[in-house]
Amino acid sequence: MDSIIVRGNGPLHGQIPIAGAKNACLALMPATLLSEEPLTLTNAPRLSDIRTMTELLASLGAEVTGLQDGKVLATSCHGEITPVADYDIVRKMRASNLVLGPLLARLGHAVVSLPGGCAIGARPMDIHIDALSALGAEIELKDGYLHAQALGGLRGALHEMRFASVGATENFLMAAVLAKGTSVLKNAAREPEIVDLARCLRAMGAEIEGEGSSTITIQGVDRLHGATHPVVTDRIELGTYMLAPAICGGEVECLGGKIELVESFCEKLDAAGVSVEETATGLKVKRKNGRIRAVDVVTEPFPGFPTDLQAQMMALLATAEGTSVLEEKIFENRFMHAPELMRMGARIEVQGGQATVHGVEKLKGARVMATDLRASVSLILAGLAAEGETVVSRVYHLDRGYERVEEKLGAVGAKIERVKGE
Ligand code: EPZ
Repeated sequence: MDSIIVRGNGPLHGQIPIAGAKNACLALMPATLLSEEPLTLTNAPRLSDIRTMTELLASLGAEVTGLQDGKVLATSCHGEITPVADYDIVRKMRASNLVLGPLLARLGHAVVSLPGGCAIGARPMDIHIDALSALGAEIELKDGYLHAQALGGLRGALHEMRFASVGATENFLMAAVLAKGTSVLKNAAREPEIVDLARCLRAMGAEIEGEGSSTITIQGVDRLHGATHPVVTDRIELGTYMLAPAICGGEVECLGGKIELVESFCEKLDAAGVSVEETATGLKVKRKNGRIRAVDVVTEPFPGFPTDLQAQMMALLATAEGTSVLEEKIFENRFMHAPELMRMGARIEVQGGQATVHGVEKLKGARVMATDLRASVSLILAGLAAEGETVVSRVYHLDRGYERVEEKLGAVGAKIERVKGE
């Protein structure tokens, strides 16, 4: 297994290009199942999760070809489709459950393995099941697989979700676009990835209104056609790299960044003493003056503070002046990075969904272990600000969501290298 070595090297300067969003692309790719015509995705990120989704779609009968060094994904699904998403692929990546809605819409039936839990939480699928059942699907769990069928096809319906789940909103959207009649989804998720999916589906001929708000209305159509769609910028990669100059000084411009993607996050950065300036090409970030100030953070669905930036924010607050309280309200087990940061000299107390972070003057390099995607990059950020050398192991987690980290950070002056594993 590869590991990454980071040596604290002072302030960073330069530009970091931000890629297309992993979490948008993972929802856009299954949309190819909704039409017999090709769907081309541009500005696609080059990540192991995208390769896993490619593998899954291929196992269902779709074709996905990476062009232009993988930045363009040409997808099509005009042949025979098998409705079974196998456990051996689904267990590698939860987002595989995003084929359930499109398969049901296209074929009227689907057999999708339940992904099971992951490091950050149990992650059940009850909200997905309720939402698709509202459209007339009958879904039962058998031998670890969800067996779903909609004899006579899906029917439009009004449905209110008990929680604004991102994945369930995406599955409902991709099912309702081919359902008979009108569907209204209440308490829908409002994330930019949902807006991007709705835009892509509209480019394919779908009739959708209200994406980005809590109420989305979908008028079902008989068929969808092909389209070309640019994947939205990755707001989580953006936020991650905005924290690099914040944690170790200097000034970095994140190319492709927009404030609207990270507003609540920018409010917290401002309170912590970090300035963010929108430029013609992105977001320029630097510390205002002196040490970072402590701030309290609560993770919430968009437009609240994103849970996917909580670990990275903890790394910053571990170096702040004063005590910060971080409350994780989305996932029940998302503080696994805390003990690793404590190996680097951070002072953190975790109690249930709350972490109290007493800032220290300086972190110290150490050998640490990545436990999940966002935890892994928070350790790299901490290593950038630490004295000495930090060795982060199990970086396969990182490769799921960050392309070419060493190159991007190395280009702005970080001392960082990957050590190939056995
Ligand atoms: C998406 O996951 C993202 N993944 C996650 O990013 C992100 O953390 C999450 O949204 C929240 O923003 C992708 O888009 C591929 P949810 P998703 O359904 O759709 C519970 C990353 O680091 N829930 O909004 O799975 C669930 O357990 C990843 O890139 C149910 O109880 O998130 C969780 O506690 C990690 N029942 C909460 O809701 C359900 O049926 C939010 O889940 C569905 C969800």
